[in-house]
Amino acid sequence: MPTAIDLFAKTRGHERAEQLRAAREQDVLPYFRALEGPAGPVVTMEGAERVMLGSNNYLGLTGDPRVKEAARGALDTYGTALTGSRLLNGTIPPHLELEREIAEWMGTEQALVFTTGYQANVGALSTLLAPEDTVVVDSGDHASILDGVAMSRARVRPFRHNRLDKLESMLERSVTDGGGVLVVVDGVFSMEGDICDVASVSELCERHGARLMVDEAHGAGVLGARGAGACELFGVEDRVDLRMGTFSKSLASCGGFIAGPAEVIDFMRIQARSFLFTAAERQRRGLADALASKG
Ligand SMILES: Cc1ncc(COP(=O)(O)O)c(C=O)c1O
Repeated sequence: MPTAIDLFAKTRGHERAEQLRAAREQDVLPYFRALEGPAGPVVTMEGAERVMLGSNNYLGLTGDPRVKEAARGALDTYGTALTGSRLLNGTIPPHLELEREIAEWMGTEQALVFTTGYQANVGALSTLLAPEDTVVVDSGDHASILDGVAMSRARVRPFRHNRLDKLESMLERSVTDGGGVLVVVDGVFSMEGDICDVASVSELCERHGARLMVDEAHGAGVLGARGAGACELFGVEDRVDLRMGTFSKSLASCGGFIAGPAEVIDFMRIQARSFLFTAAERQRRGLADALASKG
């Protein structure tokens, strides 16, 4: 007998779908508006000039002539796509050079470049954490962190956003959970815009024997003397085990990275499914030059 449930039924009359339809009808939908032209403080949207307050182009590098020239060079040398994963035919010299530059920038042994930052978080967390482990997350952590955590099936202990007292009590409980413990925070929280006190977080992690991963998506390029993010700003780069970053904000491109100890990065290189089973993105060289150009 065929099933009586239509899988697509949930897409009809869904609250958000209704809101989308109503907003479209009134032409007041604020989302998916097409921008015609480059990113900048003022953009052209559907034929009109608009002040852009939602962009992550923090350093304005998307229009930097050197960045554009490097992208053109990559296009000329490698074509429009790599058509394969990093594992097989998708690794090119700029990836390797970029990984060396990132490791140097973040002060870690190694770094691994992913096609997006989302995939970097999902890949790192779903690979490192196992069901017997515990992961302690700030309730404001980015969706890619929460998705990676969900995929790992590790025990999740969330704490209220930026509340160190709550983090401490979660850590106290975690130590008796029976597995390894990882704390994951955003250096700069993407929705709230506030900065995590990574110095205190790292101290709490050390006290409880937990590993610490910091998502530097919004801090990289912006915080710290070398623009290496919140960990640099707080002077705790050597006390943070793993650092994640993206190229889609200050760095004017697309892609993401995880930086950390060689043994962990090599483990991800051969285990992270979001790294292995997706096509590589052409990365350009000259990260250091691009950042240096901004002082
Ligand atoms: C805190 C944070 N982490 C990760 C990501 C994912 O980065 P990407 O845009 O490269 O996929 C974002 C971007 O939205 C972010 O804000």
